[in-house]
Amino acid sequence: MQISDSSTRILAGLLEARTGQQLTMSRRWRIETALSSLLRERGIGTIDELITILVMGKEPSLSQMVVEALLNNETYFFRDRAPFDLLQRHALPELAQRRAKSKRIRIWSAGCSTGQEVYSLAMLFAEEPAKWGGWTVDILGTDVSTSCVDRARAGAYSQFEVQRGLGISQMIKWFEECPDGWRAVEPLRKSLRFQVHNILEQPPHPGDFDIVLCRNVLLYLSPEKKTLAFERLAAGLAEDGWLMLGAGETVIGQTSKLGADINARGLYRLVGDGSRVEKRQGDRRSAAAGA
Ligand SMILES: C[S@@+](CC[C@H](N)C(=O)[O-])C[C@H]1O[C@@H](n2cnc3c(N)ncnc32)[C@H](O)[C@@H]1O
Repeated sequence: MQISDSSTRILAGLLEARTGQQLTMSRRWRIETALSSLLRERGIGTIDELITILVMGKEPSLSQMVVEALLNNETYFFRDRAPFDLLQRHALPELAQRRAKSKRIRIWSAGCSTGQEVYSLAMLFAEEPAKWGGWTVDILGTDVSTSCVDRARAGAYSQFEVQRGLGISQMIKWFEECPDGWRAVEPLRKSLRFQVHNILEQPPHPGDFDIVLCRNVLLYLSPEKKTLAFERLAAGLAEDGWLMLGAGETVIGQTSKLGADINARGLYRLVGDGSRVEKRQGDRRSAAAGA
């Protein structure tokens, strides 16, 4: 299907305006594949015809569907493994000590797609009941795509999806068969929260997250939007919190708010003055609670 330059520009403009994601000319090939099922479902013959409907503005919900179809939602359980090992080996033991009084940990997966990253995090805690029993572990998954958030909330995955990244024993322990595949067991689902959120806007709980994951989300943002996204993510972090990015992503040269954690490669911390570094040894929230 031939897509005109002007249609491409309109679609790219819509996607960038709503999400910050750039549809560069080299990624044009995605358009046709991404929109084909939406066109079929709506009985729209060509992309140029779709553009005409969008420009006429008669179907406001259609533009959101187009944006969601153009987003890259690739994800799987325990994606890249090493980041989860790093959390388990380094960040969680340190948090277990630092938050020993409050017994509360808050994690935000920003750009969580259909939820596999969030369920993977939940499994890290659920696999160690002796360690985390009695703790309040609040894990929030957010995405700009409503359809992704709905799917994440449902926690239901196809046979193919559930096998990507999960071993057979983990799959049987934390998922049960449902008509179209496998669904996360209720206690796992109930331990998680999901909401629609754009990372270019204010974070859901400013200054309160011990760990923020924003993996494989920022790759196609313009430099300006990336800087803004880092500001928002930094604003979500507790003073002693960590940001984790995807493989090959970095904060270096992108923001002055965050820097690499010299003790844990792959984790980033707020860059602050001496008092902030000093403070991060303590538990800000438990100190406040005990005051
Ligand atoms: C490639 S997926 C990555 C999912 C998961 N973090 C992982 O690494 O497996 C990127 C996700 O980011 C979401 N996204 C893109 N732009 C966003 C924005 N401005 N705010 C929130 N989510 C966004 C997309 O909808 C998509 O689900």
